[in-house]
Amino acid sequence: MVAGARPNFMKIASVIEESNRGGKIKPILVHTGQHYDPELSDAFFQQLGIPEPDYHLGVGSGTHAEQTARAIAGLDRILPETKPDFIAVVGDVNSTLAGAVVAAMRRIPLVHIEAGYRTHDPNQPEEINRQIADTLSDYFFPSTQFAAENLFREGVSPERVFMAGDINLDPMFRLMPEIDACGITEEMGLAPGQYIFSTLHRPENTDHEEILRGIIEAFDRVSRKTRFILPLHPRTAKRMAEFGIPMPEGITVTKPLPYIQTVRLMKTATLVITDSGGIQDETTVLGIPCLTLREHTERPETIRIGTNRLIGTDRDRIIAEVQRILDGDKPEGRVPELWDGRTGERVVRVLEGVFG
Ligand code: UD1
Repeated sequence: MVAGARPNFMKIASVIEESNRGGKIKPILVHTGQHYDPELSDAFFQQLGIPEPDYHLGVGSGTHAEQTARAIAGLDRILPETKPDFIAVVGDVNSTLAGAVVAAMRRIPLVHIEAGYRTHDPNQPEEINRQIADTLSDYFFPSTQFAAENLFREGVSPERVFMAGDINLDPMFRLMPEIDACGITEEMGLAPGQYIFSTLHRPENTDHEEILRGIIEAFDRVSRKTRFILPLHPRTAKRMAEFGIPMPEGITVTKPLPYIQTVRLMKTATLVITDSGGIQDETTVLGIPCLTLREHTERPETIRIGTNRLIGTDRDRIIAEVQRILDGDKPEGRVPELWDGRTGERVVRVLEGVFG
């Protein structure tokens, strides 16, 4: 099983745990090292109870091509000694792409968990990663019916597609007692239902000065009315410094936060503003209004069924949409089918049937 960046870690935890419990499949975990800062990596392993990786490739940062190429070469080097029956990749980061490519090159069956998401926006590196991973995959675990239908439209045979739910949510269900007991809101002096929680890190938003400036100006305006919490991703911090965009005084900035603290802050927020993928799922299950700063989402169920609104990145629109929620016009939602925290179990039962 290959993982490398923060959003991957939520998606491998239950699959590894269930494989170990079932005993028919022995997982070998490879951490590519795409994310290496303790707050983006070790903190997640620890809270999610993921065992130490069997291999750590240490690929580090670089252009997408450099990073992916180093991960491909690193994975390729360990395959002769590990001899896996299959390679499993999760999500859509560069490490996912690397695992998929190496499986295809070595003719090893490929399993993609969280398959079939599409935005058809080539400006998002994740979209390229998803499309290539799905082109090369043999077994597909889409999180939603919409994602499954994308795969069918692209010619994937239905007997290779397994509906198991949203893997990303398993840790949230499992760790809910710890999330509820977490004292971060009190430590930060936040009253439930009276603050906005936000995350921002997508290159389409952070790497264009005008867009980033507009978003931060909107955050500035909003933070004058309501407490505003922003854990700052290293990419965003770097770009704000490069573009000379100052952090508005009203925003409470933190380092990237561990998983339990992040979910706790989402769970009692008035609303969440994000460009993350996983947070759109999590807020839907938590029933918290979410404003997504993107033009497209690969997760349309979170809008059709859940509590998400896709609002783009225009400054005035962000301000207006926040006001709309503060005025009481909140998206009401339900939880999509099989988003119940038991996806890892279902995935592993299928894999045991195929490979066990
Ligand atoms: C990656 C994923 C993205 C995911 C995000 C979550 C890809 C294409 N993108 O984006 O889908 O939502 O992770 O965080 O795989 N850096 C550090 N410490 C680290 C890692 C990175 O400071 O441990 C800095 C480096 O300056 C690096 C930058 O963050 O250049 C971006 O890191 P990178 O892994 O390239 O992409 P992310 O933006 O994190």
